[in-house]
Amino acid sequence: MITCTETAQTVASDLTNLLEEPLVTLDSDGSANPYENETVKPDERVVVVSSTTTSGAHLELLELQERAAKREPDEIITVMPYMGYARQDKSFEDGSANSARAVAKAIGSGTDRVYVVNPHNVAVLEYFGVPSEPVDAAPELATPLPKDLVDPVFLGPDEDAVWLAESVQEAYGTGHVDNFEKLRHSATEVEMDTGDRDFSGSDIVLVDDMVATGGTMSEAIRMLKHQDTGHVFVTCIHPVLAKDALSRLNQAGVDDIHATNTIDRSVSTVSAAPPIAQYLD
Ligand code: R5P
Repeated sequence: MITCTETAQTVASDLTNLLEEPLVTLDSDGSANPYENETVKPDERVVVVSSTTTSGAHLELLELQERAAKREPDEIITVMPYMGYARQDKSFEDGSANSARAVAKAIGSGTDRVYVVNPHNVAVLEYFGVPSEPVDAAPELATPLPKDLVDPVFLGPDEDAVWLAESVQEAYGTGHVDNFEKLRHSATEVEMDTGDRDFSGSDIVLVDDMVATGGTMSEAIRMLKHQDTGHVFVTCIHPVLAKDALSRLNQAGVDDIHATNTIDRSVSTVSAAPPIAQYLD
């Protein structure tokens, strides 16, 4: 059976359809809601799905694991479409916490296995202390792109995003891959070096793991607008879209934005469930 926090209802419901397993709400004693009892066996696996976008979602996930354990299932599997705090994966200043390790240790103690969709850094998976694997949803991002892109370039705003751009390009079937160099000045401001790259005449698909403040993508779009490119699309796995990120992208001149539903936003048009289902099948 599948159960989920408030923050992961779309992914959980897509998984339910793909895996044909019931999606149930667990009561505080671990039992399922009465109307669902007929379809739930006591000795089955429980898949807990949660995007930990808020501290409340973290707590809800821990509570769901606790409730799942009361049913004494064969296995508790935790699926994190989006893992919050994954970027806080070391002590950046003396005395600061490694938040990724702190939350992963807590989550790992209530589960037998963990799957995380495109964690910012796969090294955080070892913090769970149980078998954990990353799930790559990048190929799904090719689906909503127009089929008739002109000489498309799949562009990572920095070197770290190149493999994601390659994933999307491969799924799209044509075009080539490139990247800019990024220098981050602050949490919201970045500088972009395009080198002597010339993308005139090409449609551009910018690909990154997440859009948070929109600083990275809006700067990349701004640089592209100095050239005579075709359409500029932004695609990302995790649409964090903090504060005015969406308007920053629109003001910079993006033509369209697509993201997966690891976080539920207006641009979350792509389901991350198919690649997750492959691991759970
Ligand atoms: C950074 O390493 C990530 O891959 C993204 O580029 C970054 O998180 C985007 O953040 P923002 O939208 O705030 O520039």
